[in-house]
Amino acid sequence: MSKHNFAPELGADPDDIGNNVSANPSIQDVLALRASRRGFLRGSAGGAGMALFGSLGLASCTSDGSSAGVKTTQPGLDQEKPPALLGFSAVAKSVADAFVVPAGYTAAVLYACGDPLFSDADAARNDGSDANYERRAGDHHDGMEYFGLSVDGRPLASGSERGVLAVNHEYINPVFLHANGPTSVAGARPAAEVNKEIACHGVSVLEIRKGAGGRFAYVVDSPFNRRVTAATPVELSGPARGSALLATRYDPSGQRTRGTLNNCGTGKTPWGTVLTGEENWSGYFTRGSGDDARRSAKEVTALKRYGRAAGKSSRYGWESAGASDEYARWDISATAASAAGDFRNEMNGQGYLTEIDPYNASSLVKKRTATGRFAHEGAAFSLPQAGRRLAVYMGDDSQGEYVYKFVSDAAWDPADATAANRMAAGDKYLDKGRLYAARFNADGSGDWLELSLANPRVAGFAGYAFADQADVLVHARLAADAAGATRMDRPEWCATHPQTGEIYFTMTNNSSRAPGGVDAANPRSYTDLRSDVKAQSGNVNGHIIRLAEQAGADSLRFAWDIYLFGAEAGAPASVNLSGLNADNDFSSPDGLAFAASTGICWIQTDDGAYNDVTNDQMLAALPGTVGDGGPVTVDNGGATVNTYRGALASNATLKRFLVGPRGCEITGVAETPDGRTLFVNVQHPGEDTKASDLGDPGKYQSQWPANAGYGAGRRPRSSTVMITKNDGGKIGT
Ligand code: FEO
Ligand code: CA
Ligand code: CA
Repeated sequence: MSKHNFAPELGADPDDIGNNVSANPSIQDVLALRASRRGFLRGSAGGAGMALFGSLGLASCTSDGSSAGVKTTQPGLDQEKPPALLGFSAVAKSVADAFVVPAGYTAAVLYACGDPLFSDADAARNDGSDANYERRAGDHHDGMEYFGLSVDGRPLASGSERGVLAVNHEYINPVFLHANGPTSVAGARPAAEVNKEIACHGVSVLEIRKGAGGRFAYVVDSPFNRRVTAATPVELSGPARGSALLATRYDPSGQRTRGTLNNCGTGKTPWGTVLTGEENWSGYFTRGSGDDARRSAKEVTALKRYGRAAGKSSRYGWESAGASDEYARWDISATAASAAGDFRNEMNGQGYLTEIDPYNASSLVKKRTATGRFAHEGAAFSLPQAGRRLAVYMGDDSQGEYVYKFVSDAAWDPADATAANRMAAGDKYLDKGRLYAARFNADGSGDWLELSLANPRVAGFAGYAFADQADVLVHARLAADAAGATRMDRPEWCATHPQTGEIYFTMTNNSSRAPGGVDAANPRSYTDLRSDVKAQSGNVNGHIIRLAEQAGADSLRFAWDIYLFGAEAGAPASVNLSGLNADNDFSSPDGLAFAASTGICWIQTDDGAYNDVTNDQMLAALPGTVGDGGPVTVDNGGATVNTYRGALASNATLKRFLVGPRGCEITGVAETPDGRTLFVNVQHPGEDTKASDLGDPGKYQSQWPANAGYGAGRRPRSSTVMITKNDGGKIGT
């Protein structure tokens, strides 16, 4: 998310600003490691190192040293007649209030905020009067996954004529959600407004069918349709289920909670469910200014580490709407004799990868606590290999937070790809395993640091005495501090290359990265070129880092390099390190996904640095492999650091595919398995509009998609857009 326009505490999202006061890792730690790992060195210490390591990263070996091979094909990938990729003409940067796609392509809105999923909700009026958001599209469309159906409506991964979309609704724009913007009376929010806002969060599951003209439409009243909101009953699953840390008045046994919140990125499991990442949930809760006195020292440490120091107000004031539990739960002050009598632990029920079966609208939703609690973005699986464990890669989006991976205990059984009980498959692969955080070493190597009491640095951490594995998982950030993970420039989404199996992570930006604080994996700190607002500094434009496991998904070691550096084309060479030009320059990479049909990597932006020149955008990329570039020294105005850079970009490997309307973020991307329809989300168009502008649509920052002919009213709406090629070809060819 970029910013919000309601709660006064929010300019930039404070959850993004970060709460990591650890010193991980010091450059001394990294240098010491480097000295002890000469066999793993590359770059300045030995010219042969790069080639050696590059091959290591690609030739996956089993733990006994035999070659397991990296999967080189993916269902749907056309091996015989590869289409000419990036054959479209680059879209120009744009500040128009329009969704712009290349010549020869057509974009149309499929599903916008307020659209009814069920016939008991009326058509969206888009004037702030729509209610029953439990029965219609929520706001702030974000991560999204497509699940195929056969023509007769059975789960079929390859189904491209009929399918189910799972769409995250990250947060809301209260200005447009209510007739006159959000209100409060004597400090209390009206319950009707709060009910609407709670229901506007969560996830939509909707059936879509291809109709006349090859264009999809969603199906009102489909049995697949479902809304999960911030109030839906949810099971807590995995090692933290039943922990005292999760006991609340709602469920003193700590096995259940309500709602999924601030759903950002997604992941598609190999067994056909969606994982939705709970990102900036901390800000929804308030905690009394005197609450520290009623808490243990450990609790206070943990609450601060997750952004809830005593006295913090909540983002939307939901706790003020009434005394009943549905509102009281948003105040996490300790008020009763024990946790069973209040909601002091309510926030511990948020911050997970949450699994939903999109093919079964009545199935239980489960939070997978084994994957750790933090500000989750997306989730990318390793390429499944029969008999090998699965890895799930994850980012924690806040300044200075970490990259994580979870490795299942269970080995992958290909029969589970069509499991009838998909949530049971989730239990199998996501409730038992090991959680790791990443340390990126200065020599281009990396280590996965186990987050468990078996790690002496976690068990002996002076900053927090972990009681058990539930404590480690619920407070994964503290465990990663203890383990010595590398503090990153806001890890956003990640994605797995369908051919190489390498993992790509967007580091969206970091205004707190000072020239004296750069490291090899976060090597830039500079001042933005933008002149129409106050100068921005730090890693303003972000970068994309990628890693190659040394020997498969359960490796403890990896190689990395920086695939792309975001930059303005006109920036100095010390900033524009990937050689971007006018057809492919970008800032603040965020959403990221590979298309299985073509291998194209879609890169989406959520920017605040370059949007004087262009609205947010999506680029198509054809990445190579870790090590396809070489060592480079980055000069941050005299403070230099050595790092590893991927091959320079060219128009053959990176090209702008679309630009969104004003004030939006482009996020969420999914395709039909045949590659002929691409779904993309437009989040918060017109987000800078003030409530005082509501009487005059001419003052709205955006009127999209109404100005493109979609729907009633003139208020801008977050929307799912479908893109087709006019000749019926694959998207991006
Ligand atoms: Fe929801 Fe970090 O983007
Ligand atoms: Ca973002
Ligand atoms: Ca994001």
